[in-house]
Amino acid sequence: MEESTFDTRTMLSHLPRVEIAHLPTPLEEMHRLSKTLGGPRLLIKRDDQTGLATGGNKARKLEFLVADALAQRATTLITTGAPQSNHCRQTAAAAARFGLRAVLVLSGEPPADQTGNLLLDTLLGAEVRWAGGREREAVMAEVVEEEREAGRVPYVVPYGGSNAVGATGYVLAMAELMAQLARRNLQVQRIVFASSSGGTQAGLVVGAKAFGFMGRIEGISVDKSRPVLQEWVHRLAAKTAAYIGLRSTFTPTEFTIHDEYLGGGYGVMGDAEREAIRLVAQTEGILLDPVYTGRAMAGLIDLVRRGVYRPDETIVFWHTGGIPALFAYRHELV
Ligand SMILES: Cc1ncc(COP(=O)(O)O)c(C=O)c1O
Repeated sequence: MEESTFDTRTMLSHLPRVEIAHLPTPLEEMHRLSKTLGGPRLLIKRDDQTGLATGGNKARKLEFLVADALAQRATTLITTGAPQSNHCRQTAAAAARFGLRAVLVLSGEPPADQTGNLLLDTLLGAEVRWAGGREREAVMAEVVEEEREAGRVPYVVPYGGSNAVGATGYVLAMAELMAQLARRNLQVQRIVFASSSGGTQAGLVVGAKAFGFMGRIEGISVDKSRPVLQEWVHRLAAKTAAYIGLRSTFTPTEFTIHDEYLGGGYGVMGDAEREAIRLVAQTEGILLDPVYTGRAMAGLIDLVRRGVYRPDETIVFWHTGGIPALFAYRHELV
C-alpha cells in the first residue's frame, strides 16, 4: 500500500517547524464519565494542555505556520476570528514568543466586557482591530497594506490556522496518538472532536491515511452544514497531503461530519452544551468550552444515549481547548 511506505521522519525533516506545543499531550481515561453514561470506554486526548497561553489545538498548527512566517522573514502575524477566538489568542501568544507583532481582526464591535480570550489578546500584546459591519477579509487586506507601508513584513495566518501548512500539525498529531495507543495496546473505533475551520479534521484524516489508523474520524460541526464542511475539509485534506508529499486521494465521504448539533448557531450555548460542560467537569474534573468542545461533547453524549456509539466500543474524545471562553459565558453557565 502506498500509505505504508510513508515515513514520519522524512516528513519531519523537510518541513519547517518551530517548537511551541507541549507534546505529546496526555491521553487519559474518562472512567467516571463512561460509567455515568453507561456507554463506551472513553479516553480524552488533552490538546487543551498544549501549553500556549492556556492551550488548544492551534498550538500544533502554529508550529508550522510560524516556521513558514519566519522563513518568509515576516515581522507581523495578521489573523482573524470571532471576538472570543481561541485561534487569535494562540496566534497572539505565538507572536509574542517569537518577537513578532500580532494584529487581530475581530468581527463586530468591541464588547462592553473585555474578558476571556479578548482579555488575553490584549495581555499578550496583540493589536485588535474591530471589523464592525465590514468583511473581516477586507479589513485584513488593509492591515497588510498598512504593515507594508510601515516597512514591516506581514504574514497572514488563515482563519483558524486551517491551510495545508497548519493542518500538518494534525497529521503529526495522529502519529502521536497512534504511538500512545500502540504502547497501551488499545484499539480505538472512533475519534470524536469539534470541527469548524477544518484543519484539525483534515490533518487527522491525512494522518490516518499516512500512518494506517483504521478507526472512524468524526467531526462534530459547530457552525456549518455537513455538505459545506465536508467539501471544505475534503479539499483541505487533498492540499495537505500534497504539501507533505503523501500521494493519496480522498473522497468527500471519507470525512464523517455530524451537523445535527448546531443548536442556535455558532457561539450560542444551549442546554446541551451546558449539560456536557457540567457533566465532564463534575465527573472528570476537566473543563470544556462553551463554543467548541462543549458542543462536540454534547454530540458524543447524545450519540452514546441513542446507542449509535455502543458500550463495547473504545472512543477518543479529542479535547481541542477553548477554556478562556468559559469566562465570557459566565452568566449563561451558572
Ligand atoms: C477550542 C476549539 N476547538 C475546535 C476548533 C475547531 O478546529 P478546526 O478549526 O481545526 O476545525 C477550534 C477552532 O476554531 C477551537 O478554537
